[in-house]
Amino acid sequence: MKILLLCSGGDAPGMNRFIYDIYKEFQNETYYAAAGFDGLINGRIYPLKKVVKEEDKNKAGVVIKTSRCPEFKEKKYFKVGMENAKKFDFVVICGGNGSERGAKELYENGVKTLFVPGTIDNDVADNYYSIGFSTAVKECVYAVQNVMPSIESMNRSCLFEIMGRECSQIATKTAKIVKADYVAKDKIEYEKIVDAILRKHEKGKSATILIRENLEDIEKVAKTLNKMLGIDIVKFHIVGRTQRGGAPTKEELEMADKFAAATIKAIKKGQAGRVLANKILKVEIKDFI
Ligand code: F6P
Repeated sequence: MKILLLCSGGDAPGMNRFIYDIYKEFQNETYYAAAGFDGLINGRIYPLKKVVKEEDKNKAGVVIKTSRCPEFKEKKYFKVGMENAKKFDFVVICGGNGSERGAKELYENGVKTLFVPGTIDNDVADNYYSIGFSTAVKECVYAVQNVMPSIESMNRSCLFEIMGRECSQIATKTAKIVKADYVAKDKIEYEKIVDAILRKHEKGKSATILIRENLEDIEKVAKTLNKMLGIDIVKFHIVGRTQRGGAPTKEELEMADKFAAATIKAIKKGQAGRVLANKILKVEIKDFI
C-alpha cells in the first residue's frame, strides 16, 4: 500500500505526533507532500522516513512542512495535484477548513482521501476538537498568567489579542479558564469594556480583557479606551504565534494519538472520509459533506 500524508494551512501543535503515529504503523508505505498542496502540485513527494524522527514526536511544528496554497483552487493546478494524488492508495490531509475543501475535491475526483482536523482555531464543521486547540489555549492562559502580575503591579488593565481567525473558540475557552472580565468574540463593545475596567479599578484591581483577532487594530482599541477613560491605564499584549509554536499539552498528544488511531483503522478498512471528534472526544469517520 502507498499512503500520502500532507499538512495544509497553519501549522498546529500535535501535527508532528499525528505524523509520527501514522509513520510508526505503516513505515515504508508512507510518503509526504512537502508543504501541503504546494508539494502535491509541484511533485515534491518523498518517503516519510526521510523526515520523521523519534525526538520530534512531542514537539510543535510540522516536520513535513505546511503552507497556504490558493493555487490548488485553480483548475489547472488542481488537475496536476490530483494526478499526483491518484498515484497513492490513500491520501491523508491534516488542516483546517480550507484544507478540508481541498480534501473533499480530491475525494470527489476519485482519490481515497481522509481529512483530519489540524488547526488551532477549532473551526471545522461537525467537529469538537482539532489538533492544536488545547495547546493554543494553554499558551493564552500562560500569557495572561505571565502578563497580569506586571499589569496589576502598576494598576493598569490589559487587552490580550487572541488568534483564531474568524472563530472565537480559543478566546472563549481561555476567558473561562482565567475568569476574564470581558471577551470580545465578534465585536468590540467599548462601553462594556470601559465598565469592566472601571468596576475593577474602583476596587483597586485590574481587568483582563480578551479580544479575538481580526476585529479591530488592538493598538487603536487600547488608545480609544484610554481616551474614553481619560487616563492612560490600558495596555495590550498580542499572544500571537506562541499559540502555534508552544509545546503540545498532554491532552494534545492524547488527541493526536486518537486521531491517528482512527485514521489507521480507516486506512486498514479501506474507508475514506472525515476523521472527526464528537462531543465526548471520541474520534470517528464521517462522510464528506
Ligand atoms: O489558522 C490558524 C491561524 O493561526 C489563525 O488563527 C491565524 O489567523 C492565521 O493562522 C495566521 O496565519 P499565518 O500564519 O499564515 O499568518
